[in-house]
Amino acid sequence: MPLACDEHNTTSVITNMDNTNPAEILPTITEEPTTPKPVSNRRQFLKRLLLSGLASSLPASAYASLFEPNYIRLATLDVPIRGLPSEADGLRIGHLSDVHCDDPRAIERARHAAELLREQKPDIVFFTGDYVTHDPHHNMTAAAEALAILSDAPHGAFAILGNHDWWSGDPDHVASELTRVGFHVLRNQSAFIQSKGIWVIGLDQRCDSKQDVSQALKDVPKDTIKLLLVHEPDYADEAPAGFALQFSGHSHGGQVRIPGFPPIIVPTYSRRYPEGLQQGQNHLVYTTRGVGMISPKVRFCCPPEVAVLRLTKASI
Ligand SMILES: [Fe+2]
Repeated sequence: MPLACDEHNTTSVITNMDNTNPAEILPTITEEPTTPKPVSNRRQFLKRLLLSGLASSLPASAYASLFEPNYIRLATLDVPIRGLPSEADGLRIGHLSDVHCDDPRAIERARHAAELLREQKPDIVFFTGDYVTHDPHHNMTAAAEALAILSDAPHGAFAILGNHDWWSGDPDHVASELTRVGFHVLRNQSAFIQSKGIWVIGLDQRCDSKQDVSQALKDVPKDTIKLLLVHEPDYADEAPAGFALQFSGHSHGGQVRIPGFPPIIVPTYSRRYPEGLQQGQNHLVYTTRGVGMISPKVRFCCPPEVAVLRLTKASI
């Protein structure tokens, strides 16, 4: 997909829009490094390193293409929610996005990310799109199977589609493969987590205006806690009021960053909420940096991420 320069005044991790100090109102995200999973043997790695280094004459390029993409970070945070039912207090949500399973390395990375998240024993899992970039009939079976170990989360594993799942040419195939391995695919649909008293609302992708929030909300009572899954984080500014927390991906955190600076280049519809927990106009937005990459397939100062968000009952 085309990338465009970020003209907006975004910050990299936590911002809010009313100029209050975000640290006063938003919880802190803790990030832990995890053990990188080798994607090849040492000889293959050295060969790749050499080829990459020779091709670019820049050690940083080799680092960005061979090292950092495999250093998946675990982000954990508590998110206080006003009016959260007592049954949902402490609910731990695993969030994974943008695996872009286009080649064996990406599939292996997705499998490793799923294993890392499963080790955290989340109560429920959310996938927020972009399982493949192209060739869904070739790539999606392996992508779904790489993620399948998360399908037995105690309160379910819910998935939505991203723009690349559509642009790959067959979003219905992407959805059917996810369903085949046990995920609940929400395409402008809702699901009630009865034992926790909360709703999960899943929209289709915003880039091509496939989202239909009215359709998704048609069976949802008004005064309930609603969690929104939508691939593009900036949809938050269009969403109707009434959601407690939004989960998104799409930005990849920018993939290539300058340390200490916000993302320079992020895709359309992820410029206002490119990463982390931010206060939107009507609700909180959590944007993960995701696991995979689009071309150029490099990450620099922007490691891949899986996240666990724990909902807590806000005191006021
Ligand atoms: Fe995307």
